[in-house]
Amino acid sequence: QAVRLADYQPTLYAIETVDLDFLLSPHATLVTARLAIVPRDGTDAGAPLVLDGDGLTLVSVSLDGRPLAAEAFTATPDGLTVATPPARPFTLEIVTEIDPEANLALSGLYRSRGTYCTQCEAEGFRRITYFLDRPDVLSIYTTRIEAPVAEAPILLANGNQIVSGTSADGTRHFAVWHDPYPKPSYLFAMVAGDLALVRDDFVTASGREVDLRIYVEHGNEDRATYAMDALKRSMRWDEEAFGREYDLDIFMIVAVSDFNMGAMENKGLNIFNDKYVLAAPETATDQDYTGIEGVIAHEYFHNWTGNRITCRDWFQLCLKEGLTVFRDQEFSSDQRSRPVKRISDVRTLRAQQFTEDAGPLAHPVRPEIYHEINNFYTATVYEKGAELIRALKTLIGADAFARGMDLYFDRHDGDAATIEDFLACFAEASGSDLAPFLMWYRQAGTPRVTARGTYDAEARRFTLDLAQTCPPTPGQPTKLPVPIPVRFGLVGPNGADLDVTAVSGATVKDDVIHLTEASQTVVFEGVAARPVPSLLRAFSAPVVLDIDLPLEDRLFLLGHDSDPFNRWEAAQAIATVALKAAAAAIAAGGTSPETDRSFVSALGTVAADETLDHAFRALVLQLPSETDIAREIGSDVDPTAIAAARRNMRRAIAEALADTFAGLYDRLSTAEPFRPDAAGAGRRAFRNTLLDYLSLVPAGAGRMERHYDTADNMTDRLAALTALVFTGAAGAEAALADFYDRFKDHPLAIDKWFVVQATAPSDDTLDTVRRLTGHPAFAFTNPNRVRSLVGAFSMANPAQFNRPDGAGYAFLASTAIDLDPRNPQLAARLLGAFRSWRTMEPGRRAKAEVELRRIAAVRPLSPDVTDIVGRCLA
Ligand code: ARG
Ligand code: ZN
Repeated sequence: QAVRLADYQPTLYAIETVDLDFLLSPHATLVTARLAIVPRDGTDAGAPLVLDGDGLTLVSVSLDGRPLAAEAFTATPDGLTVATPPARPFTLEIVTEIDPEANLALSGLYRSRGTYCTQCEAEGFRRITYFLDRPDVLSIYTTRIEAPVAEAPILLANGNQIVSGTSADGTRHFAVWHDPYPKPSYLFAMVAGDLALVRDDFVTASGREVDLRIYVEHGNEDRATYAMDALKRSMRWDEEAFGREYDLDIFMIVAVSDFNMGAMENKGLNIFNDKYVLAAPETATDQDYTGIEGVIAHEYFHNWTGNRITCRDWFQLCLKEGLTVFRDQEFSSDQRSRPVKRISDVRTLRAQQFTEDAGPLAHPVRPEIYHEINNFYTATVYEKGAELIRALKTLIGADAFARGMDLYFDRHDGDAATIEDFLACFAEASGSDLAPFLMWYRQAGTPRVTARGTYDAEARRFTLDLAQTCPPTPGQPTKLPVPIPVRFGLVGPNGADLDVTAVSGATVKDDVIHLTEASQTVVFEGVAARPVPSLLRAFSAPVVLDIDLPLEDRLFLLGHDSDPFNRWEAAQAIATVALKAAAAAIAAGGTSPETDRSFVSALGTVAADETLDHAFRALVLQLPSETDIAREIGSDVDPTAIAAARRNMRRAIAEALADTFAGLYDRLSTAEPFRPDAAGAGRRAFRNTLLDYLSLVPAGAGRMERHYDTADNMTDRLAALTALVFTGAAGAEAALADFYDRFKDHPLAIDKWFVVQATAPSDDTLDTVRRLTGHPAFAFTNPNRVRSLVGAFSMANPAQFNRPDGAGYAFLASTAIDLDPRNPQLAARLLGAFRSWRTMEPGRRAKAEVELRRIAAVRPLSPDVTDIVGRCLA
């Protein structure tokens, strides 16, 4: 069923309060919902009340205390309609029976290793009870939970606990929770189970004492300390950076093992995938620590951007997600290194969002039509959504942006808002017309900015011609220009930015060119020397920059740009040009051209530059991914050739710089106490990047094994394991066995063991993955396991997933078909790996199409998978 933004209508009825009563039982939980319903102004007397349901079993329904006559309503598993409700406020009481144990879709009320928990975003609440299950229906919730004490000693719901009690014989107990803040149903949550508690507290800026609680499985208490620390830092930061304080007396986080996404911002009761809560040095990598810090912050920040101000409809998803990702990115930038954070965010953006935008699943940041909303929790809505906030801030300036945020919080607190509401605050705060900016939200596709500079030495004039285009995307054949902030500098011969005056052309404010037209020319006067333009500094807009700088100029920027992002970008650009050429040569049956020596020596210079921090040096040394290169090539892609080109370049760099790298590596190989902070993580990232290069040359032998054996933390151990497995080293099998043995009781660590094997660059990998699906540590019911094995293989191993024989496609298709009846969201997400199938060379393209058509023919097929496969084939 297509849902369209243009069709938005408010509901006919409001639901002012919701009283829920859960009688928990694994296979037959009784849910009583008492809804205080009020016809909205203008609703026709007796207009039908149509409530959403999904797979529900109705037990009874009564209105103002009297059972409804059979002819007064119709109920199916997927809806309940009261034909002619009273034209006045009334109470509807609905009793449903649900089976949490059988709920493998992990949406609604389900059980994760015995713990009852909920996931209601986007449309899970309707799997619990009949309701107006949409974000613009805000109600005050009171939740009573009753369960056997032995089964569920802990009973939690949103808000504050107001009553609790135990039966006379002590076997059953209950708790009642009340949330004073009106909220949409997607923010409802309840949890019941036998969990351990980690406690702390926080005093807000205005003096409110907040009880902080993290619930984990027994035995995991000491793995929650980093999450708790991240939570307290997030709470303080939101006060300082955005003036936002917490608003309840208690804030709870529950970690569960079976969860479809990262985490969920339910009011006062966040529920997390345990991957984003639990960490210890032996089992979690630095990436895990930064992931925890970022996701804890993200969900906490939703309390204002998402909960206090929510979305009018699901088309506005980016209103809360893009903004909240922006906020968590800013938090992490302030906590760690801003340039390093920016580079890693742009890497993710390009790999995920640019790739999505370049294929059949492309959609606007604010879509205008959907068939299944769960398929729109995408890199475009989240990551590009965050980029748009950042670009907006760059366009109007930090001060106007801060005033706009204050106005937004002030004006829309308690609302279900739209992107138009949001932008109006910034238009008002900045006094600028932001109507053109809305086009960013409406148009899919990655704009391409072409820049051409010419220097007239005699006139001391530098002319910059800029133009923007955007490729067609599904349903959008033609595009209009968007306002693009191009942060820039003109770098002079000594490496410092030249002082220049812009005299004509596009608006230039400080160091930002406002590119608003399809093409514009900026003329800079008084330019003392031929400059090298450094454009799109700090990646000031989510665009592809096409600038024809010669290699020397890029090497110059790599060595001298004052903008660290563009130093990194210079190396990426040099490598991309070379890798594209090499992949083309290999695909045509030739051999890789030699890697440019000046580039290699520039990398060596960066590596040895002790004025640069370790994390930054690591990033400069890492070549663009196979996915990035494939996207740059764009059509008739041969992933095998790309992998070979990349491998050859890595080996060439390793051979040329073996001594430098070995020296640096050895100097960093002194024992240091593990600390998961930015400095420690950077040091490990650099040393592990060096090890990765050394693994390709004789110097790696011995070092890899020693690295593995002496590791006192997961980051180092995993880096060594990866190097051993990827190079097919003699010690690989032993290391894999050792790793499994060490961590067999830690599923999140075993996930890494799955990832390493699933991403190995070997033609045997698919067989290994198939075999591992039968491993006792693997389970198709757990999304983390599935993503680590099947997801990693299909998304992070392009050469093996896109095997020329099509076996990778067939494996993914069969897996998704098997999973679909149990967990359609997970099945649909895995199938996102087909998003680039049309860019493949004809042989692979034909094989992918066969598999997509095979899936499309399956009956029944979930709306989730039907939607993804349908769009892929369209
Ligand atoms: N709002 C959550 C977050 O970004 C994501 C939940 C999405 N869940 C889903 N089933 N679509 O923090
Ligand atoms: Zn979010």
